Amino acid sequence: LKERILRELYTHKGEYVSGEGLSIKLNVSRTAIWKHINALKNEGYIIQTTQKKGYRLLKSTEKLTPEELKINLTTKELGKKIIYFESIDSTNAYGKKIALSAEHGTLIISEEQQEGRGRMGKNWFSPEGEGIWMSLILKPPILLSEGTKLTQIAAAAACMAIRNVTGLEAYIKWPNDIVVHGKKVCGILTEMAGELNRVNYLIVGIGINVNTKNFPQELIDKATSLAIEKGEPVDRKTLAINLLSLFEEYYLLFIEKDTLEKTMEICRSYSTVLGKPITIIHGEDIIKAHALEINEEGFLKVKLEDGRQQLFSSGEVSVRGDGTYI
Ligand code: BTN
Repeated sequence: LKERILRELYTHKGEYVSGEGLSIKLNVSRTAIWKHINALKNEGYIIQTTQKKGYRLLKSTEKLTPEELKINLTTKELGKKIIYFESIDSTNAYGKKIALSAEHGTLIISEEQQEGRGRMGKNWFSPEGEGIWMSLILKPPILLSEGTKLTQIAAAAACMAIRNVTGLEAYIKWPNDIVVHGKKVCGILTEMAGELNRVNYLIVGIGINVNTKNFPQELIDKATSLAIEKGEPVDRKTLAINLLSLFEEYYLLFIEKDTLEKTMEICRSYSTVLGKPITIIHGEDIIKAHALEINEEGFLKVKLEDGRQQLFSSGEVSVRGDGTYI
């Protein structure tokens, strides 16, 4: 009901909508309307109320509430169900807890994470209201070994969404970091479970530093936010919507049309590693190589120092520039 009330207010943004009109149209009591209006106000909506004229929406909330996202979301599968938190330990951890019973496409999003998780057991700095901290639960009919492709689909979508919405030149550090001006703005952590090779579910966690102002000392050299690089705040909602639409577009191309062409085209065009000397961290091994190509399966083809060529899958390695993070 809250969502339907909000839709009505949105359609007439800036104008008054009468309580009576709403109660007739939505077939509920005026008290019910009033209750939901108060709930919306608590979520940060600025709604003017007068006894005679009714309700008038002046400003929407800055928060990434399900109502706000749904109003603008045109996806078929992703984000049909949205679970929202003001604060949580980690959206990925929560996703794992509910994954088996959750429906495909469920989106979990939180204003802050107290124990945001990064790759390789690292923490992910997730301050309140400053980023997009979200996880998608996906249940595609694919093999476990193909799971890493979803990470690359997410990276391609994040890179393009950042480019579209901010105009910043975002690049992908293969396979799944997004960087702007040489520093990381977005990371992706995919966790999966399956049996006999078949995926039961994937949790694709995406963290974007959108309006983060201050990073902890240890991250300052490596991390930045879109707002810092752009010099002005970036609308999280527009970015989240754009990201979900692109994610779904590339995801459905893969699942329904069996092609990763678009994803890989983006991964190649905006790659920070192709044509460059890199260092690959593979378990205990540190391998110096030259990045040659990202193939249609998303593998990185490199030339080793002895001239041999080798393919790496995105799940098994971490890549560094020659002596630098990028
Ligand atoms: C990385 O190390 O680059 C991956 C970072 C992934 C962070 C996101 S934020 C939303 C989701 N929940 C988590 O706990 N982590 C991911």
